[in-house]
Amino acid sequence: MFRTAVIKNIEVLLESSVNHIIAALKKRFMNKEKVSRFYDVVWTEYIPDYEATKKHWEIFFSEDEVRGKSVLDAGCGTGIFSIIFANNSAGRVTGIDISEGSLKTALSLKEKFALQNANFQNEDMHNLPFTDENFDIVWAWGTVHHTTDPFKAIDELIRVLKKGGSILLAVYTRTKLTFIHEIIRKILVRTPKRTWTALSKIMAFFLTPVVFVFKRREKSRKGEKLEELILDWYFVPIRYYYKPEEIKSYLEKKGFTIENYLPASGRFNSTSNFIFKARKSTRIK
Ligand SMILES: C[S@@+](CC[C@H](N)C(=O)[O-])C[C@H]1O[C@@H](n2cnc3c(N)ncnc32)[C@H](O)[C@@H]1O
Repeated sequence: MFRTAVIKNIEVLLESSVNHIIAALKKRFMNKEKVSRFYDVVWTEYIPDYEATKKHWEIFFSEDEVRGKSVLDAGCGTGIFSIIFANNSAGRVTGIDISEGSLKTALSLKEKFALQNANFQNEDMHNLPFTDENFDIVWAWGTVHHTTDPFKAIDELIRVLKKGGSILLAVYTRTKLTFIHEIIRKILVRTPKRTWTALSKIMAFFLTPVVFVFKRREKSRKGEKLEELILDWYFVPIRYYYKPEEIKSYLEKKGFTIENYLPASGRFNSTSNFIFKARKSTRIK
């Protein structure tokens, strides 16, 4: 009797652990797939303006600082930052992303700029195929908050960064209004995909006057239409938000020294991101 009960309990325990693992794997796999499919649709043809983006890059890096350096552009999208690094004397630039469509555009940009020192490959930031301490610079603009496990992704970026190297993280800011945006996003991502473009156009129509009044400075988002911003903001399958202190203390705990911090001014002068540039200690084991 007792033996049967023990065996039954073990069976139940095993079954629930296996189910748990399968559910966790499924969730992780599905989400990653959803993100890559989303960016295959939304960003594939979107190439930010080179000059405007370069001006922003110059806040953090200079040609002298990157000369001959190895750079990882983690979540490169259509590759504009990889191209800027490669065009400004970096030795070797590796752009990685999970969106095949975006990578195709990145490759065509590489050809357009005739760059030999930039390469693009399909890799997941949580699990990079690079040895430890491989890169002098790791650049992750607007990407870790779209991964299934942002701190695991950050740890992986730290692993492949050389001692004394620089990491740049641009991350979505958690504000008092975040929960409202999240409610809207969680409703919208559940609508049929084929309606997304139409929905974002309708939203853009109604939001144009609001944006005009409150966000006049965001007109600097050259070349982007409000409907595209809405699509990117409200329909993306995964997004996390953080307070700057969270990312700062995480980096410091990992032995980084903060070298530059922009609290509310990302590329395009948007208030949605904060940015840290930090240096990895040379003494980390
Ligand atoms: C908002 S876009 C930013 C693209 C680019 N960094 C830029 O600023 O132009 C976010 C990118 O992160 C990529 N991404 C999301 N999860 C990823 C992962 N686990 N590994 C690699 N890339 C990922 C997406 O496919 C997408 O291209």
